[in-house]
Amino acid sequence: MKPDNRSMFRVVFCLFIVSLLFPGCVEAVRQLRFNRQGQFKILQVADMHYGNGKTTPCEDVFPSQMPTCSDLNTTAFVRRMIHAEKPDLIVFTGDNIYGFSASIAQKSLDAAFAAAVESNIPWAAVLGNHDQESTLSREGVMKHIVGMKNTISRLNPSDAPNIDGFGNYNLEVSGVEGSGLHNKSVLNVYLLDSGDYSTDPTIPGYGWIKKSQQKWFMRTSKKLKRAYRSEPVAQKQPAPALAYFHIPLPEYASFDASNYTGVKQEGISSANINSGFFKTIVEAGDVKAVFIGHDHLNDFCGKLSNVNLCYAGGFGYHAYGKAGWSRRSRVVQATLEKMKNGGWGGVESIKTWKRLDDSDLSTIDPQILWRKNTFASNQVYSKKKSSRAGNMDLRKQQYKCYPEE
Ligand SMILES: *[C@@H]1O[C@H](CO)[C@@H](O)[C@H](O)[C@H]1NC(C)=O
Ligand SMILES: *[C@@H]1O[C@H](CO)[C@@H](O)[C@H](O)[C@H]1NC(C)=O
Ligand SMILES: *[C@@H]1O[C@H](CO)[C@@H](O)[C@H](O)[C@H]1NC(C)=O
Repeated sequence: MKPDNRSMFRVVFCLFIVSLLFPGCVEAVRQLRFNRQGQFKILQVADMHYGNGKTTPCEDVFPSQMPTCSDLNTTAFVRRMIHAEKPDLIVFTGDNIYGFSASIAQKSLDAAFAAAVESNIPWAAVLGNHDQESTLSREGVMKHIVGMKNTISRLNPSDAPNIDGFGNYNLEVSGVEGSGLHNKSVLNVYLLDSGDYSTDPTIPGYGWIKKSQQKWFMRTSKKLKRAYRSEPVAQKQPAPALAYFHIPLPEYASFDASNYTGVKQEGISSANINSGFFKTIVEAGDVKAVFIGHDHLNDFCGKLSNVNLCYAGGFGYHAYGKAGWSRRSRVVQATLEKMKNGGWGGVESIKTWKRLDDSDLSTIDPQILWRKNTFASNQVYSKKKSSRAGNMDLRKQQYKCYPEE
């Protein structure tokens, strides 16, 4: 056999063995792909804080709501969001369970993700700082998640055996079926374990994204860029990417009400040390937006060095919140460029909005996070008021609530 055939044979053979050992496994390896309308939508669920289900009470709802409120309200909200948005991917950004309230971690995890599992939509999760506080370690929690139905979560990359944390991986979203970009990743989604707490006694507080994770991120980013730019159908610009994790980067504190969309009702609880991941992201250049949770009362998006730093806002009912301030969820939609010949190109725009768990599932704060080519020209023109203002007017017509920058 030629070497190519031999390696192909090996891959097929391994898949065959895997499918014998784990019947659900191969079926679960699903390729994410833009739909025939050139769109791909991600639903973010942050901080479910799931406990034991119907016996676990809600926090920070009105006293009159307490008797009828439990974890089941969190599940109902996941179901409503899935039904309303019909996402192509669901991403859970940590504190999926609130370990101290969960008697048996496996049971709580199964219950927490049940609505995603039953939807048959691919879903992915990362860890927060509370997931390991029940009967499983962080490794144990992530291993349990990886074995669940319909998930495309992974434990860690095979090419980074010594990486810190559990649940560092990336998901590649291919172009429209049958289009020129059928076999290319036109949108890349990084998922990272931002840790729980510092293990360094001289730096108390939350964890951070370590050097080993940043090295893997850089390597992956380079690999993806090379693939996108190489034949066949070599692309000129790198494909955009998104990053999801739990704990805010220190740079989330760079904004005030004049330059973010959404609200900031509590401090930014990042680690007490800056591990440099923001700089790494800026250097790599592919990540256009970062999405986190952790601070339930913050739900804003702000842009720094052309990278959007976004919160999702608290989702779960057994999590601190604010009575009268609805639990919420963030949606991201990427849209491909329609080519002159009618085919689909690379990603043209990335939009976001949030939905509230009120009677109408109200949509709030729609924003355009990124547009192909525009960020370069925005920079050039940022001091020329007229052209920029023209641009903003156009966007405002489309989206009434588009924020002033
Ligand atoms: C929780 O769910 C129950 C049952 O559907 C409902 O009656 C109650 O209003 C919900 N509570 C909140 C705070 O949404
Ligand atoms: C994608 O890859 C498959 C399998 O290798 C091949 O049959 C197909 O022609 C490729 N499509 C494009 C658009 O490159
Ligand atoms: C936001 O505006 C404040 C001034 O109101 C400024 O200090 C800060 O640097 C701005 N942040 C960004 C990221 O532009």
